Amino acid sequence: MCDDRPAVDRARPPAGVDRRRWSVEAAGGWIAGVAILVAVAVVALVSAGPRFVVAATPPNGAIRQVDATLFLQNCASCHGPQGEGTANGPSLVGAGAAAADFYLRTGRMPLGAPDQRPIRQDPHFTDAERQALVEYVASLGPGPDIPQVTSGGDVSRGRELYTANCAACHGASGSGNAVGGGSAAASLGQATNLDVAEAMLIGPGVMPPFAFAPADREAIVAYVQFLRGAPSPGGFEIGGFGPVSEGFVSIVVGLILVVLAVRFVGRRSHRGEPAVHAPVDSEPGSGAGA
Ligand code: HEC
Ligand code: HEC
Repeated sequence: MCDDRPAVDRARPPAGVDRRRWSVEAAGGWIAGVAILVAVAVVALVSAGPRFVVAATPPNGAIRQVDATLFLQNCASCHGPQGEGTANGPSLVGAGAAAADFYLRTGRMPLGAPDQRPIRQDPHFTDAERQALVEYVASLGPGPDIPQVTSGGDVSRGRELYTANCAACHGASGSGNAVGGGSAAASLGQATNLDVAEAMLIGPGVMPPFAFAPADREAIVAYVQFLRGAPSPGGFEIGGFGPVSEGFVSIVVGLILVVLAVRFVGRRSHRGEPAVHAPVDSEPGSGAGA
């Protein structure tokens, strides 16, 4: 059935059509097609207008354009379209590339809901997406840049500095600890060298920022890297249960105290009762095995 029909050859004029006329018509079709494409492109560009914002003028005076799309889609609901902050999230003006990079690389942002606590998890964005977001946040105002991390810091100097500045919150082995106000200082078991350098620079959450000289910063980075690799049986895994087991012990001790107190009060009230009834064979409170 199909065999009878000649295949339509689009490059050739159909039988009986003047070749020249046909090519003019074909060209007309092309022109119309191109015109439609151009129109669509223009509309797309116009409607994409707010996608591009003019970044803070960089030192060389050139005007850079930064893509705001991802920010508007993922962050603006809490941080505002210009990163100016809303009731749901702080202003990011001046947070800098370092903070954006840290919060995105460690998966702390975007939060699912404003009252959630930022915690380390798998990053939500690809490297390219993160770079676009970091650029946008950096364009909002001057802030700390992503630090350069070189390996080879002085580990024993790092141990001193770590013990003096970090151990109180992160534990001597970096296993993490309970900090006041219910925030837990993260275990450093997953922190990369760049995470450590950025965290010191920006001070996430209740952690204060530290202004160490580069050599001291490298030393701490090297020591935390050493802690991460140190195969100590009391290290990250067991130490990680510290706050939990402490809480468990206090619940058990508390329960024992409550039981003792109840027994004590019960006995006293029995003793104090006036003897209304006729002679009692045994006192109920004292027979219970005190
Ligand atoms: C559901 C709300 C919400 C969304 C969505 C959200 N954030 Fe946040 N963001 C917060 C809150 C709340 C904080 C403060 C958290 C804290 O410190 O405990 C915060 C903190 C930050 C900080 C640290 C600010 C500083 O000065 O230390 C950065 C950087 C950041 N967010 C970037 C982003 C980026 C980039 C996105 C989009 C990919 C995003 N956030 C999406 C609510 C949100
Ligand atoms: C006052 C307590 C405190 C001190 C002191 C402190 N931190 Fe922190 N640190 C925290 C808290 C809390 C967090 C988690 C913050 C968050 O997730 O919002 C944290 C997070 C970190 C992280 C991120 C961990 C991860 O896996 O994402 C690193 C790295 C870090 N701190 C390193 C250090 C270093 C190095 C020092 C010492 C120079 C230090 N901290 C001092 C409380 C502290």
